[in-house]
Amino acid sequence: MTTLVLDNGAYNAKIGYSHETVSVIPNCQFRSKTARLKTFTANQIDEIKDPSGLFYILPFQKGYLVNWDVQRQVWDYLFGKEMYQVDFLDTNIIITEPYFNFTSIQESMNEILFEEYQFQAVLRVNAGALSAHRYFRDNPSELCCIIVDSGYSFTHIVPYCRSKKKKEAIIRINVGGKLLTNHLKEIISYRQLHVMDETHVINQVKEDVCYVSQDFYRDMDIAKLKGEENTVMVDYVLPDFSTIKKGFCKPREEMVLSGKYKSGEQILRLANERFAVPEILFNPSDIGIQEMGIPEAIVYSIQNLPEEMQPHFFKNIVLTGGNSLFPGFRDRVYSEVRCLTPTDYDVSVVLPENPITYAWEGGKLISENDDFEDMVVTREDYEENGHSICEEKFDI
Ligand SMILES: Nc1ncnc2c1ncn2[C@@H]1O[C@H](COP(=O)(O)OP(=O)(O)OP(=O)(O)O)[C@@H](O)[C@H]1O
Ligand SMILES: [Mg+2]
Repeated sequence: MTTLVLDNGAYNAKIGYSHETVSVIPNCQFRSKTARLKTFTANQIDEIKDPSGLFYILPFQKGYLVNWDVQRQVWDYLFGKEMYQVDFLDTNIIITEPYFNFTSIQESMNEILFEEYQFQAVLRVNAGALSAHRYFRDNPSELCCIIVDSGYSFTHIVPYCRSKKKKEAIIRINVGGKLLTNHLKEIISYRQLHVMDETHVINQVKEDVCYVSQDFYRDMDIAKLKGEENTVMVDYVLPDFSTIKKGFCKPREEMVLSGKYKSGEQILRLANERFAVPEILFNPSDIGIQEMGIPEAIVYSIQNLPEEMQPHFFKNIVLTGGNSLFPGFRDRVYSEVRCLTPTDYDVSVVLPENPITYAWEGGKLISENDDFEDMVVTREDYEENGHSICEEKFDI
């Protein structure tokens, strides 16, 4: 019997058999203006020669799985002959779902996995539980950790004592990678070039040039300077999808600081955008979202827990999800949490080598555990007891 591990994110599916390696594949369909509105699924995006004006059709909305047609097509593709060639009669699945998921979505999930695809056993779990499991494997002497998962839809802060989440202290911040890309699109469109239809391109710009400032006001001052002294400013060469397949930053020595470029390249000049966009994760109120930033929420969450446990959480803060890849993210979380925490507590913030696939790696480890069989719901279980057995068994 093999186990397929699927961290089914709103943006990326992190998927692979537990005895193999993981792949990160877009969990969506695309329609391209340039390819006569043909639909592409998951990593078929690589076949699109000119992905300008690309539409995304996402199975998730506001963090929850709502568009089942799209999700089924992506899963058909992933499980089918193009990719994993799943033999359902010989395969279990570990699949993630968001915190505070709706019962109706959970039931549809059970039905589709057991009845349509006919997996032999299913474990539905939150991605954070898998990350916690991964963390405890490396840190066996620790009993507690707090998982910060900043992905596409939201950012969640969830304390775990071993495999149990502390439900009363979970915090959701309504800021994720999608909002950041949209905000970058808006300010670029307002300031220099209309890019509202270019989500794909601007998302790449975000990942290539944005960073988390360690001192917002200092960087803001630098970003206002003229010429050489403005060390924040970069010129980003946009792709034209014929000679330039992927955008990139002009090397500093080739930047024309005053006047125009002679080449025909289309260039975005970015300065404060680089750090003002990720700053929303730390100060959502900058754009009118009246919520706590990540460090404040971490401290607030821990303070909701019994006092004797608090020091254990402060020294086991784990960052996961795509946004934690912004340069400077870990250092900023550390320094702000440090400032907000009593001095006699140790603070440690861990950024795993690959924060996007960390939960998947935890799923792989769980499938190798001796008690894995007790954690899953088998098909016989489900056929006999229906949804109630899933509700009973899964800590979700
Ligand atoms: N190097 C990077 N720098 C900044 N952001 C990045 C980087 N790489 C990926 N991201 C962003 O991370 C997000 C995807 O992260 P992740 O795969 O953790 O989300 P997800 O699991 O699909 O979403 P969710 O957990 O909300 O369902 C995207 O918004 C993407 O733009
Ligand atoms: Mg995720």
